[in-house]
Amino acid sequence: MSDHKRFGEIIPTMDGSLTLRHPDHKQDYHSSEGAKFEANALYVDASGFKQALDTQENVVVLDVGMGLGYNACASIAAWLQSSGKATLELVSIEIEPFLVESVATAKAPWQEKWDQDWLAGPLALKEIEDNFYQALLKHPKTEIEAKWNVWIVDGASQLWSEGARKFQFVWQDPFTAELNPSMWSKEWFDRLNGLASPGAVLMTYSVARVVRDALMLGGWAVERIPTPGRKKHWLKATKGYS
Ligand SMILES: C[S@@+](CC[C@H](N)C(=O)[O-])C[C@H]1O[C@@H](n2cnc3c(N)ncnc32)[C@H](O)[C@@H]1O
Repeated sequence: MSDHKRFGEIIPTMDGSLTLRHPDHKQDYHSSEGAKFEANALYVDASGFKQALDTQENVVVLDVGMGLGYNACASIAAWLQSSGKATLELVSIEIEPFLVESVATAKAPWQEKWDQDWLAGPLALKEIEDNFYQALLKHPKTEIEAKWNVWIVDGASQLWSEGARKFQFVWQDPFTAELNPSMWSKEWFDRLNGLASPGAVLMTYSVARVVRDALMLGGWAVERIPTPGRKKHWLKATKGYS
């Protein structure tokens, strides 16, 4: 089967990285400004994640809607390039099995231009059981470990098993609230709140009023932050300490 038939249209974004256009609802998986740019600037940098890798001993991240793996692989690449002080636990959830299978080949069409640090996670991903993949990595400087768990699951209606682990960072990146309302509801943000540690940071590209309202009702303090790109704002939400 051709790539076009299997994945839908492959679209170049402004920084040269490649994304997909969803074949049914036609929404792109990433901003036209740059799939790689957004993964690095919004999720890895503006969240404080990169800094946490050099100041904390353990960093735990939930990646909502793994999609083409940009946010997950940008996180792993940042960890590989960090001082090697912190262990990383990254948990991704994704509803579409074919995306997880494709990312794990490290040869999906959008991965063509990815460098070794970006491909390290996909190359290490193994199917452990039905609907569960895992990658174990060692840091090149300190041999400290990173674990990437990938669950094929409908996050809105199914539970996935990550024990008592509390997330310090959440990459909230489903399709828009109009297309995928259950992943932007008060109930969803309530649930994320329960899974997050005090002071946890949730980042998202959407600054829509419905999203801000649902986050606040779910117990998150919301802040619009300026972007370094053409879009004016992204959203940073913080879980309160009380
Ligand atoms: C905008 S794309 C995410 C792009 C991705 N974060 C990346 O870095 O490449 C949204 C993703 O959310 C996934 N998704 C939608 N509904 C979901 C659900 N209920 N549970 C888990 N994943 C879901 C979609 O299949 C899609 O891959």
